[in-house]
Amino acid sequence: MKIGVVGAGTMGRGIGQIFAQAGHSVTLIDVSADALSFARKDIQSSLQRLAGKGKMKDEPDAIVARIEFLNDMERLKNCDIVIEAVFERLDIKKDTLARISSIVGDSTVIGSNTSSISIDVLSRAVRHPERFLGIHFFNPVPVMSLVEIVPSEFTSSTVIEHITEILKDVGKDPVFSRNFPGFISNRILMPLIREAILTYEQGIASPADIDKTFRLGMNHPMGPIELADFIGLDVCYDIMEVLYRDFGNPAFKPPVTLKNMVDSGKLGRKTGQGFYSYEVRR
Ligand code: CAA
Repeated sequence: MKIGVVGAGTMGRGIGQIFAQAGHSVTLIDVSADALSFARKDIQSSLQRLAGKGKMKDEPDAIVARIEFLNDMERLKNCDIVIEAVFERLDIKKDTLARISSIVGDSTVIGSNTSSISIDVLSRAVRHPERFLGIHFFNPVPVMSLVEIVPSEFTSSTVIEHITEILKDVGKDPVFSRNFPGFISNRILMPLIREAILTYEQGIASPADIDKTFRLGMNHPMGPIELADFIGLDVCYDIMEVLYRDFGNPAFKPPVTLKNMVDSGKLGRKTGQGFYSYEVRR
């Protein structure tokens, strides 16, 4: 199959990679040449890690050769499936989906990798809502097997079955959520991250001790604060804003510390500075 992915950020490049690994040809689109060139490097290094562990049947170079890195959306024309993975902002997602929908053929399935925005609302941006649904991946996409499948009120059952089969075929293990703010994962995860940040903000414990509590006490691979840095503090902020607005519940309101860090460009691992400091790979 020919798979299109729009947005070459952390999620988009991971999604492109897993489809290429499974033998599909992938068109990865981004407006930024820098993002595309970093995507190629990042996918190569991820594939090297997997190859070193004997987890792939093809060579990394052969897999990368199945991906075209482009900034021209028109090249999505012949794709069987297109997955949108741009910023978690309603206006940007709607514009991108409308553009994708105006380019692809009538039988193409379009998915949004939104982590929280209403699929019913997004489906209004596409020409064929019956062939549109939420397909929410987890970071790092090549490692995490979970995918949340979120149909809208209009998604056809054939499309849900077809996408479920394809996701299983590329090694993913789906769960199904009704279209409701934050779906399953972020409705539960974001309040945890929010409380962890507030626990730090109120001077109760250091980020290191909060994280240690979850690593050693609950057996989480990462504590909630390091996980927020890993996801991206801007992404966490955007998701909390959607949940706060859609539920109208202050229990989802982004903490001031999180807002200040995002405003000052401390976005976590990807910028080298979040609650912790990191080496930036670029
Ligand atoms: N590509 C390929 N392989 C990778 C990789 C990548 N990008 N990142 C990690 N790996 C592999 C490593 O090679 C290693 O493989 P082996 O077990 O075969 O040796 C394995 O994953 C573990 O990695 P590391 O040894 O480097 O480090 P780790 O043990 O600390 O694991 C982690 C790293 C997998 C990220 C782990 O810390 C983890 O699972 N963290 C939690 C991640 C999580 O919760 N993700 C979901 C975030 S929420 C989200 O994405 C959705 C949203 O809407 C916000």
